This record gives sequence, structure tokens and C-alpha cells, in this order.
Amino acid sequence: MTTTTPTASPAPATPDGLDIRRIGGRIGAEVHGLDLAGDIAPETVHAVGAALLEHKALVFRGQHLDDAGQLRFASLFGELTTAHPTVPSVDGQPNILPVDGDEGIRANHWHTDVTFVRTPPKASTLRALVVPPYGGNTLIANTAAAYRDLPEPLRELADRLWAVHTNAHDYAEPRSEKAAEHRRQFVSRRYRTAHPVVRVHPESGERALFIGGFAQSLVGFGPSESRDLLRLLQSYVTRPENVVRIAWNPGDLVLFDNRITQHYAPDDYGDLPRLLHRVTVAGDVPAGVDGGRSRAVEGDDAAHYTPSAA
Ligand code: SIN
Repeated sequence: MTTTTPTASPAPATPDGLDIRRIGGRIGAEVHGLDLAGDIAPETVHAVGAALLEHKALVFRGQHLDDAGQLRFASLFGELTTAHPTVPSVDGQPNILPVDGDEGIRANHWHTDVTFVRTPPKASTLRALVVPPYGGNTLIANTAAAYRDLPEPLRELADRLWAVHTNAHDYAEPRSEKAAEHRRQFVSRRYRTAHPVVRVHPESGERALFIGGFAQSLVGFGPSESRDLLRLLQSYVTRPENVVRIAWNPGDLVLFDNRITQHYAPDDYGDLPRLLHRVTVAGDVPAGVDGGRSRAVEGDDAAHYTPSAA
């Protein structure tokens, strides 16, 4: 088995003094030497995009952007989605989703953002406004590394599988009225989409497992076989080797490639407040190894979510 060095290592010189340091063996880097509130030259945007392809998740410490700054930065990577297909945005900010742990709504399940629609986002930005003094981290997993970890016969099977992703499945009981209201909003419009279990990244060509919490069944399999196979595949995604843990400070911003990662927010900070703002960049229709494209099984193309991609 090959080993990788988990310590930070300086990257070669890049535009504008950009300094990209790995923070995980298989995923994650911190980007230094860049003020996200300032003008960012096209070659720097290109270098950040290249770093995103390589590292999958980039952390920008101490940026203290406001909403407008986050929107401007995310827009450098493409058209923005609206905040969410069903959940209301931040007041007056149609492209910003509040991620508010105080309301008992915690993303403590492994998932890729919004895979229940045909065009899940290409990339997500999360910006920390309020963070607890301990806990409240975000874990991000490299799903291409997970695919490469599969034994060959399992990889060959996965290459041919399709999964149905949905926002309306048997969630755990909400623990508060606010959480129940959030749940009602979340499922107020129902989506079911068939995606290839192995997605070919449209820019890098890497193959990656494209499953996560919204993937509820496998096409051609019964519920119990689907659950077992999905659990087996998912166990490769969440291997510690494939995961980076990001501890937040207020003002930090994280950009991750939603086509080739999953993430998880541990529910480990009690009643302490935590607030992030999420802005996502619109994605394309995923393609599998045989070129087959995702298709809606129920619900529409979510054109209100990804205006020009749907
Ligand atoms: C999300 O799933 O986008 C939120 C992640 C987090 O709360 O850290």
C-alpha cells in the first residue's frame, strides 16, 4: 500500500504569491497569500481552480467576507445556483443558504450536496460566521480515492450500477419543532433522480463514487440488497485515509468540489450556536463510465435551482 505525507508541504510558486499547502494525505489544502475580498486576477482564479481539481477541498483562513464577498468569490467558478431547491434562502439573498446548527438541523450524515436533482452543484462554498469553541467541524471525503480503493471486482460492478437519489426518504424523527419545520420544507417538493454510481469528473476525467445519503436505492436491486451494497461502497468513502477534518474559525471559507467529495458535519457541540452561509456553483448533468447521463425519475429539472444547466 502506498503512503502519503499528511503534513503541510509548500507548493511551487504560483501567481500573486499564492501558497497552497496540503493539509491531508489524500484530500485538502490551505490556500495562503490570497485576499478573497480583493480583485483576483484571472490567472489566480485559474490556479485556484487547478488546486481545487487536485486537492478537492480548499480552506481560506481568516477572510471575513460578507455575503456579497462570498457571492462574488463563488461566481468566479461559474453561474450560481439559488440557495436550495426547497429550503428558503437567507432573507434578501436568494443565492445564500443558511446552515444554522442552532435550529437542531445538523448535516451529520455523509452526503454530496443536492444530489437528488439532475444537476447537483459543481462546487460549494461554506463561510463560517459563528462557530462553537469546540466541535462543529466539517469532514470532507475524497470519493475518487474511495473508488480507487475498491477491489477490482467491486470497482467493475460499481462501474455498471445506477442509484436513485431522493430528498424524501425515511429520515430520523426531528427533535424540535424548528427541525420538523425544516424537514417539511426540505421535502415540500419531491425529487428522485437516477445517477451513475461511478461518476466521471467532467474536467479531470477521474472516476469517483457518486452516492452519499440521498442515494437510497440501486436500480435493479431490492431494498435490502440496495442497502447492503450502498453501505459497502460507502464504507470506502468514509475511511479515515480519505477524509480531511476542517476545524473552523469565524471568517474562514471552504471551497470544495461537489462532484468528487462527500461531507459530514458532526453533531458534537450541544446547544452552542453555529452558523455558516453556503453558496453553490451550478453543475452539469453527471455522466457515468459508459457516457450515460443522469435522469430525473420523479420531479422536474429543478430549473429554479440551476437556471441554465437544467
Ligand atoms: C452542508 O451540508 O452543506 C453543511 C456542512 C456543515 O454544516 O459543515
